[in-house]
Amino acid sequence: MKGQRLAQFLSQEQRKIPGATGELTMLLNDIAAACKAIGHEVNRGALAGNLETVGSENVQGEVQKKLDVVSNEIFIRSMEWTGHLAGMASEENEEIIPIPSKYPRGKYLLCFDPLDGSGNIEVNLSIGTIFSILPAPNDNPKTEDFLQPGTRQVAAGFCIYGPTTIMVLTTGNGVNAFTLDRDVGDFLLTHSNIRIPEDTAEFAINMSNHRFWEEPMRRYIDECVKGKAGGREKDFNMRWLASMVAEVYRVLMRGGLFTYPMDEKLKQKGGRLRLLYEANPMSFIVEQAGGMASTGRQRILEIQPTGIHQRVPVILGSRNEVARVVSYHQ
Ligand code: F6P
Ligand code: MN
Repeated sequence: MKGQRLAQFLSQEQRKIPGATGELTMLLNDIAAACKAIGHEVNRGALAGNLETVGSENVQGEVQKKLDVVSNEIFIRSMEWTGHLAGMASEENEEIIPIPSKYPRGKYLLCFDPLDGSGNIEVNLSIGTIFSILPAPNDNPKTEDFLQPGTRQVAAGFCIYGPTTIMVLTTGNGVNAFTLDRDVGDFLLTHSNIRIPEDTAEFAINMSNHRFWEEPMRRYIDECVKGKAGGREKDFNMRWLASMVAEVYRVLMRGGLFTYPMDEKLKQKGGRLRLLYEANPMSFIVEQAGGMASTGRQRILEIQPTGIHQRVPVILGSRNEVARVVSYHQ
């Protein structure tokens, strides 16, 4: 029902699952609260000094803004006490984050990117928080326990801080989106059972890497650029927002192909986007909305992770276009 509060929606979903304890429902409500707090800081922007660089680099060697650090702190502090988690992994922390001993432990692991697309902070474009929830094999998890393929995710989502603040969620039963109503102070259901159109005439890629791509991707993009003149049945349009949350949200709303492919410069690293807290949650959402997500050679959700900050090539979105790129890799 449109306009329904997130908590009510989640509890209705929970009642459909026999034996559900409500722990996942509570966890998702706590994540929503954390995202509201991060969204508040994002909106305050320069007024709270949030746009200043802090002079440090994160584990990925990227320059950190105060907002990166603040978002990570908010997320950790909002989630560690809840009793629903056995451990966490963040883009901003080299090692896994244990639950402090003074708090109870729960049965889930949480992997997150507290502020995705953070290169967009100073230019006031959409950024967001991405998260993935896995079952915890025990209540004192080690790094290896986080290395589960994406097919094991029990829920995933992202919150986009754009012109409106929107939470996109899946628990493996379709995809729904909730818009933050600031007057009510809650996320309300605005987009139910989102489906990605199978066909699209829109692609998103960082074109400046053209000469570094592998041959199959160069072929695909060159054909899109040539459009009807090059033998495709249609002409294509291009977008690049440099913010995965915004890009995936667009794909969910009107279709499209989004890719950060392998390229010569990224070979050493394995790709650009991180598997555990970017590629896996987004792939789960995209598949649940009827789309497809692949590295070109493998379904992303089936990759056996080897490290918590592992990177992979990503090609996701409208099914027929992703399938075409995959066929070029064969
Ligand atoms: O987190 C990585 C990220 O910021 C994504 O959100 C985005 O898609 C990509 O990097 C942008 O990369 P580039 O700066 O190469 O365009
Ligand atoms: Mn990111």
